[in-house]
Amino acid sequence: MLPKITVTLGTRPEIIKMAPVIRELENRRADFFVLHTGQHYSYNMDGVFFEQLKLPQPRHNIQAGSGFHAEQTAKILVGAASIFQQEKPEIVLVEGDTNSVLACALAAAKLHIKVGHIEAGLRSYDRTMPEEINRILADHCSDYLFAPTEKAKTILLGEGIPKEKVFVTGNTIVDAVYQNRQLAEEQSRILAKLQLSPQKYFLVTLHRQENVDSPARFGSILTALEKVTAEFRMPLIYPIHPHSRKRLNELVLSGVEGLNLAVPKLTLIEPLDFLDFLQLESNARLVLTDSGGVQEETCILGVPCVTLRDNTERPETVEVGASIVAGTSPDKILEAARIMLNKKKGWQNPFGDGKAAQRIVDIITGGSDG
Ligand code: UD1
Ligand code: UDP
Repeated sequence: MLPKITVTLGTRPEIIKMAPVIRELENRRADFFVLHTGQHYSYNMDGVFFEQLKLPQPRHNIQAGSGFHAEQTAKILVGAASIFQQEKPEIVLVEGDTNSVLACALAAAKLHIKVGHIEAGLRSYDRTMPEEINRILADHCSDYLFAPTEKAKTILLGEGIPKEKVFVTGNTIVDAVYQNRQLAEEQSRILAKLQLSPQKYFLVTLHRQENVDSPARFGSILTALEKVTAEFRMPLIYPIHPHSRKRLNELVLSGVEGLNLAVPKLTLIEPLDFLDFLQLESNARLVLTDSGGVQEETCILGVPCVTLRDNTERPETVEVGASIVAGTSPDKILEAARIMLNKKKGWQNPFGDGKAAQRIVDIITGGSDG
């Protein structure tokens, strides 16, 4: 008998990174259903990915929505526990490090349901990040820890997690990129729509709480972008996350000293669907980002990246030469952009071979079909 599996997800990156796992479960006719926490709910952060990646509709949606961490996490915890009690899955899968991940993992563990954590073992060693707390706690209440790399496995073993629970599978983002890169190339019209030529623009994404909730840090990064666009004379395209849009509006209203928001060539656009984003990312001359998924994707796609953070839980990107962790100071960001633009490409992708989902489903189903 195959186990009954719940695939949980709640935010844009979880939908994208769970998509290959869902596809694999469908192919094997496994007994599974999708539980959406409702942490992301705007069409361009949620529904568009279900449509484009042809995912089955969630059987349940907790509709937790936005709120303070405690409020959002608590709503998901209560909602997930009630659904798990009703549905009685044997395995609950979570992916990544969001509040949805922590709450679903905890709800399942307390009900003695086995938890599989995809993307286990990442550490920034910065406990002020909500994601660091979420991933540590999720790892430590999981039964199956799917580490994307050997480095992540070593971290888990170093924290005392028994080796029988840890599996190096690669990251499912590689599967998602391999499955959609060609489609993006064929179907996306985003370059024409934005009147861009390949290699003639930079792409920016920025949404981390520690960056955009601090007017000083957000202001400093915007100043850096101004310097970057002035030096390289390249347009900067920024598909802006709704959280950052809100904070940017507040910055504009409060008027931070020394900040020039009229950055020429900085084009703010709405968040993109996955194929448009992949196409824009693949053809960018340089990407500047604080996103975890975008650090990985640029590394996989061979696009140079400047990481707009003080640390990273994806050090593999730096080790292979795909990225520099630049912090938020304008001069450091400018210097990192110069270095990355002059760097030889052709590094190895450290995140796997695109078969992570197959391995994960093999492990939780004992390798059999439904
Ligand atoms: C969350 C995750 C973060 C992840 C990111 C992916 C946590 C603590 N943070 O951050 O790790 O990198 O998702 O994108 O789990 N909003 C909308 N529409 C939506 C969702 C959010 O407008 O569909 C706005 C709301 O104003 C909300 C704000 O964005 O208050 C923040 O949303 P939230 O889910 O709390 O955190 P993210 O910044 O999206
Ligand atoms: N992404 C997207 N449209 C956008 C920006 C990002 O589809 O406008 C995708 C991107 O390809 C990556 C994922 O969203 O797979 C990253 O999500 P995000 O940056 O929100 O979260 P993080 O990875 O930092 O948790």
